[in-house]
Amino acid sequence: MLRKPIIAGNWKMNNTIAETEALVKDLIPLVADAKCDVVICTPYTDLAKAVELTKGTNIKVGAENVHWAEKGAFTGEISAKMLVELGVEYVIIGHSERRQYFGETDASVNMRTKAALAAGLIPIVCVGETLEQREKNRTKAVIRKQINGAFADIPEEDAKKIVVAYEPVWAIGTGKTATDEQAQETIKNIRGMIAHLYGRKFANRLRIQYGGSMNPKNVAGLMAQPDIDGGLIGGASLKAEDFSKVVKY
Ligand code: 13P
Repeated sequence: MLRKPIIAGNWKMNNTIAETEALVKDLIPLVADAKCDVVICTPYTDLAKAVELTKGTNIKVGAENVHWAEKGAFTGEISAKMLVELGVEYVIIGHSERRQYFGETDASVNMRTKAALAAGLIPIVCVGETLEQREKNRTKAVIRKQINGAFADIPEEDAKKIVVAYEPVWAIGTGKTATDEQAQETIKNIRGMIAHLYGRKFANRLRIQYGGSMNPKNVAGLMAQPDIDGGLIGGASLKAEDFSKVVKY
């Protein structure tokens, strides 16, 4: 298999430690026989509990953001080293909610990605267009800028660890999934952009997920597309039953 599929949950700002305990305990047996990589990305406060509960299982744990500096005067922030010491292996970077509400830019996405890679974390780098951008036929240009920005000055040996998540902003939390064809077309284009940066062979090995209202009903069609290597799941990752169905598409 050239690219092992990867399904990751993005819990966003949901679940206390007690709720994490209940959800992860339900999830472990349901996904034990999954053929893809399984990741849950949780709020910082839930990470230690999630790591403790998933030890020895096939579930990996990720954070939802990371600061770019090694340490220092950055009140309220969390470094990559802090995450690694906890046993965290993945981190979502540049989610559209962070771009929209917290001033995330392509430059800060690049800095966070470099810091994550330097510490040994696997970055899940998010890109995607808004509805307005899609309607103005700007999807490709917008995403090319995000991809070029995120991967800037990252050498091939590091870049190969990155997972890209294509999340059209209009499909997030709206119940309005991109069609299989829309998702495939854009993800194929993203693979082309990666090929432009690192060569075709490299691009053919990089994993690219789809995200945006992915659920047990639409997962099979999306995963059947030749360029779609997995999913980044919001709402449906908060219910063990639903997430396990997505994982076992
Ligand atoms: P939903 O699955 O709730 O649409 O969220 C997608 C998402 O933003 C995952 O990062």
